[in-house]
Amino acid sequence: MRLQIIILFRGTYRIFSLKVDELREEEEGKIWAIGGGKGGTGKTFLTSSMGIYLAKNGKRVLLIDVDIGGANLHSFLGINRPRKSLTNFFEMGIPLSRLAVNTSVDNLSLITGDVHSLASDSIKFTQKLKLFRHIMKLRRQYILIDLGGGSHNNTLDTFLMADKKIAVLEPEIIAIENMYHFVKNALYRKIKMSLKAYGFKEVVEHMWEQRERYKIKSLKELIDSLKESFSHLGDILDKELSDFKIYLVLNKIRSSQDILIGSSMKSIFNKYLGINAQFAGYIEYDDAVWRSIRERRPLMLNYSLSRVAKEIGVFTENLLHEREMKVSRS
Ligand SMILES: Nc1ncnc2c1ncn2[C@@H]1O[C@H](COP(=O)(O)OP(=O)(O)OP(=O)(O)O)[C@@H](O)[C@H]1O
Ligand SMILES: [Mg+2]
Repeated sequence: MRLQIIILFRGTYRIFSLKVDELREEEEGKIWAIGGGKGGTGKTFLTSSMGIYLAKNGKRVLLIDVDIGGANLHSFLGINRPRKSLTNFFEMGIPLSRLAVNTSVDNLSLITGDVHSLASDSIKFTQKLKLFRHIMKLRRQYILIDLGGGSHNNTLDTFLMADKKIAVLEPEIIAIENMYHFVKNALYRKIKMSLKAYGFKEVVEHMWEQRERYKIKSLKELIDSLKESFSHLGDILDKELSDFKIYLVLNKIRSSQDILIGSSMKSIFNKYLGINAQFAGYIEYDDAVWRSIRERRPLMLNYSLSRVAKEIGVFTENLLHEREMKVSRS
């Protein structure tokens, strides 16, 4: 369907024609951020694979590699490192739309970070806000942001800005701990930043630093305590934290027992952080992943019938439709 817009100007008129589906598509822009704290869990592999899956299913997708200092998303797409990167945005003010390069998949483009330039923690606050503003203005149906490892404030803020906050973990104790701390740090930052405008940032910091004195054992208890001590903060916190939902993806599983970690993490987040987490899905460990990187052909294209490719399809559909992964304990 096409929409006709007629503009009258000094007695003459011009007719513009706009395809309505395009209009709706552009308005639907959704930002997904993929993080999780620990390095090497598969964030970049999953970002590239989800991007390919969505693009192959007719969505217009842009991938942004904000792993500044360690950008390698292009390798997972089987393309050369793009010459222009986010550094050109930060240092020369080149618009993001001009930094996007096409990939071998229709409807899938990429903006890369940089390996030679700034470390993520050296991006200034104003630069970061400018980046967020510009990302939000980009006209794509889906924007997938690969955050890289670590829990620096810039990484946390990018995670917090996203419509969907996706945390990747693997069934291994350090990855589980790192991911828990990553989400905890993000929540703590969200509480502080939400209450900053009301003059309560320092109160939050004080109560958390002195948590033993206030008998606070978890962030959930900190939130409850803030609500109890300052009743007017209740509605503010409820509103600000209402969209703080984590989508868990468990990568590199080697047994059906491993899958149970997804549901356990969901309960832990609820109990200690008081937040809603959804177990979106799991992906098996498969040597085809590194083989596809070596062959410079993405797994979603070269091994499209593999179990890993199917699992990626399942959890991406779960993310799209807000569905939970069904886990049977047998
Ligand atoms: N399901 C999987 N099966 C086997 N190997 C995998 C799987 N997922 C990822 N890998 C491998 O794990 C390694 C790390 O993956 P990737 O680079 O995506 O992790 P990352 O979380 O982005 O790391 P970083 O934090 O350093 O950016 C790669 O060598 C990749 O081939
Ligand atoms: Mg990575």
